[in-house]
Amino acid sequence: MRFLTILAAIVAAISSAMYMLDSHLEKFYIFDPSELHKISQEGIALHGNDTRSVVSHIVSSLSTTHAKYLNIDEEWVFNNAGGAMGAMWIIHASITEYLIVFGSAVGTEGHSGRHTADDYFTILRGTQYTYRPGQYEPDVYPQGSVNLMKRGEVRQYMMRDTCFALEYARGWIPPMLFFGYADTFTSTLDFPTLWRTTVVTGRQMLGNLALSKL
Ligand SMILES: *[C@@H]1O[C@H](CO)[C@@H](O)[C@H](O)[C@H]1NC(C)=O
Repeated sequence: MRFLTILAAIVAAISSAMYMLDSHLEKFYIFDPSELHKISQEGIALHGNDTRSVVSHIVSSLSTTHAKYLNIDEEWVFNNAGGAMGAMWIIHASITEYLIVFGSAVGTEGHSGRHTADDYFTILRGTQYTYRPGQYEPDVYPQGSVNLMKRGEVRQYMMRDTCFALEYARGWIPPMLFFGYADTFTSTLDFPTLWRTTVVTGRQMLGNLALSKL
């Protein structure tokens, strides 16, 4: 009985700490979703389907305001999650945000995952299709649009043919890593990729933690 009381007290303390922190998460955010949308659209207007140049435009624009927070080396790694496969360039990662270019030159399809962060998915090239159980028609996100998937929501998604997006997540990032890694253990067994991803993510997270006011 005493054990249960102590356990309940610990759970209550942790939950209220999480709740408190949660209401202050905003303070830690360094990116603005509408700004990211604006520079993505600028990049598309300037460079069309030359996606390499669109991405360069985005990264160089962000470098003028956020240089110290960015990983500007193009360290592409495969990512397998929720049955979908693509590649990503981790431009920024912290405890509360990440910014990546994600996509595939050949297209992909899978489970979105159910996440602890809001996810802004700006389509830089191609089209993304999503759906929820009960829909008979897909939601369609063309080039230049943003698919905002709120915390806790879930979709099946498809990036038909060549499709790339700027993905910006804000909320609690560490729990999302489990989803990002699960397919390595249950399917791909691609440990060199797991290692590269961990090195880049870890370096970004620790570097940005040092820069933050936490
Ligand atoms: C990119 O290519 C697609 C498919 O060919 C085309 O519909 C779209 O208009 C192109 N986008 C731009 C910005 O040129």
